[in-house]
Amino acid sequence: MKKYFACSLWLLAFGLLLSSCSSSEEIPVISPDGRNSIVFILDGGTPVYLVMRDHKVVLDTSGLGFDLNNEPKIKGNFKMVEAKLSGDYERWEPVWGQRSRIWSRYSNLLVTLKEKAAPNRTLQMEFRAYNDGVAFRYIFPEQEGVKKLEIMDELTQFHFTEDMSAWWIPGDFDNHEFLYRNTPLSAIDSVNTPFTLESADSLCMSIHEASLVNYPEMRLFRSKQDPLMLLCTLVPWPDGIRAKVEVPFQTPWRTIMLADNAGGLIESTMILNLNEPSKIEDVSWIQPMKYIGIWWGMHIGKYTWAKGPKHGATTENAKAYIDFAADNGIPGVLVEGWNKEWENWVDGVEFPMMIAYDDYDLPGVAAYAKKKGVYLIAHNETAANAEFYETQIDSAYAMYQRLGIHAIKTGYVGKIRPLGQYHHGQWMVNHQAKVIEKAAQHQLMVDAHETVKGTGLERTWPNFMSREWARGNEYEAWSEGNPPDHTCILPFTRVLAGPLDYTPGIISIFFKDYKPDNRVHTTLAKQLALMVVIYSPFQMAADLIENYKGQPAFQFIKDVPVNWDDTKALNGKIGDYVTIARKKNNSWYIGSITDENARDFTFKLDFLDEDTQYEAIIYADGPNADWQTNPLDYTIEKKLVRKGDDFRIVLAKGGGQAVVLRPV
Ligand code: NOJ
Ligand code: CA
Repeated sequence: MKKYFACSLWLLAFGLLLSSCSSSEEIPVISPDGRNSIVFILDGGTPVYLVMRDHKVVLDTSGLGFDLNNEPKIKGNFKMVEAKLSGDYERWEPVWGQRSRIWSRYSNLLVTLKEKAAPNRTLQMEFRAYNDGVAFRYIFPEQEGVKKLEIMDELTQFHFTEDMSAWWIPGDFDNHEFLYRNTPLSAIDSVNTPFTLESADSLCMSIHEASLVNYPEMRLFRSKQDPLMLLCTLVPWPDGIRAKVEVPFQTPWRTIMLADNAGGLIESTMILNLNEPSKIEDVSWIQPMKYIGIWWGMHIGKYTWAKGPKHGATTENAKAYIDFAADNGIPGVLVEGWNKEWENWVDGVEFPMMIAYDDYDLPGVAAYAKKKGVYLIAHNETAANAEFYETQIDSAYAMYQRLGIHAIKTGYVGKIRPLGQYHHGQWMVNHQAKVIEKAAQHQLMVDAHETVKGTGLERTWPNFMSREWARGNEYEAWSEGNPPDHTCILPFTRVLAGPLDYTPGIISIFFKDYKPDNRVHTTLAKQLALMVVIYSPFQMAADLIENYKGQPAFQFIKDVPVNWDDTKALNGKIGDYVTIARKKNNSWYIGSITDENARDFTFKLDFLDEDTQYEAIIYADGPNADWQTNPLDYTIEKKLVRKGDDFRIVLAKGGGQAVVLRPV
């Protein structure tokens, strides 16, 4: 990791802004570019904060603190013991990601507060201002008399100054697999994060959290007194306590991303910057990859997970998928329904993670995959019986490692065991941490479904490749589906939290032989574009292999990388459209998608290198394409382009375009 320091004027600047008087003390923390500030205020002993963008208040005075079990609230009667201002300017290189180098440049304030009367507790608060947003967290340092805390709730508030347009899913404690709603902020009851808003003058903001460790997920709900005030709540334990922690302790960061436009949110690196560097020293076995799988076949009913005449995970079928992967340069193959008990699935069923069905020779398939140079991804559906899964982790992961398996996909469909726990409470956050750490010990990469939200922990644990934790393409197989605007919202909301295993690439839009009443709600070209638009270092080409055979569009899926040197949002309007350009080595890939409306964009190719001619291979919606009436119409065109050229992208209703730009 390379580190650069710069002595900057902004560090001096905020020192001068420190103001102090007997009843109120204020310390602004100002971003390096001077545009964002988070102001800490100790107002008559009560800590509060506010956030400004370009000198305009965007979050007004908002409360901080904790409600505790059997102890007085931590909220007021504080004096300031110490305030330390600092800053950092460094560049680091992630193991994989949307860019190969990340700059972290911020101003930081650490305040130490002590209660003026018994129980005289000490609380520290850290505030940070980046050019792409601001953040803060609570720290309980080691101290006399405070060893454990039972947090009944976190009293953090977000006091908006305008009834912004908001994109949101409800604050459910178990589920993130919802379609997004777009309403004024004041119409929300409860909401999950990343919670994205846009003001009348197009300031974009997204509230989320970073580095969620040993603490429950945060939800927000609207105050009954003030329609512009959102209050924090935490996903509880069965006994109603929200977080049980031992001191010293720090909460996750509460993050407020700020950008001039929606595309700016996509380019933000703040969430990753707020996480700790990698704890895995040897990362040579970590491999971002595309994968195919015995998967969609089950969702559309061609195969079953359970044993029987349509069993998908047979030795023969797995070998056919491995052959196809090897022949087409797709690094990974997922096999679901390989282990026993699928026919007995009820809530809480104890899925064995080491015992295969009789028609699936696990060691044989693993050896075959190894011989063919393909990563076999072992599926671990737990039916949400996380408690039982924990009893198997050590032996199962050791067995996978012996078999040369380097990746697992976990799943938690159902009601969590231990009963009463929620998917997103502290118990499951800690379960997830156990899974990731044990997986790292056994050199296993993890793709987790129905899991805890992303908060940038993949920086610390780069074997945590991807998560679903959203309403993915699978819904097209067995529900009313995902309307065309769904994928035009995800990049500005869910994906701000980190990689999403959306499972794109379903180019057989209809599957009449299996499910005549279901279909994919996009054009074919849009499924290609999603491989660029929705970032995941484990990116599934989700269709059946027979649907890729002989299909010219499959060439794009073969070519598109999953690990990038650079990423730019060329345009974007939340819920309407987005165009993302990503660079790998000297080539660029563009993915552009739209909602139910057709679009026509022209971009200047000013991001290309000087004096280089590029071949553009354009996978576009055909002239008659329309997601509803003619989704399969697409064209492949080639042309030569240079830096500065105008490049036109025409999208059909519900359509998309995928472009490769390669130096010739
Ligand atoms: C839901 C997951 O999202 C999906 O990918 C998986 O195939 C099924 N559960 C079965 O585990
Ligand atoms: Ca799911």
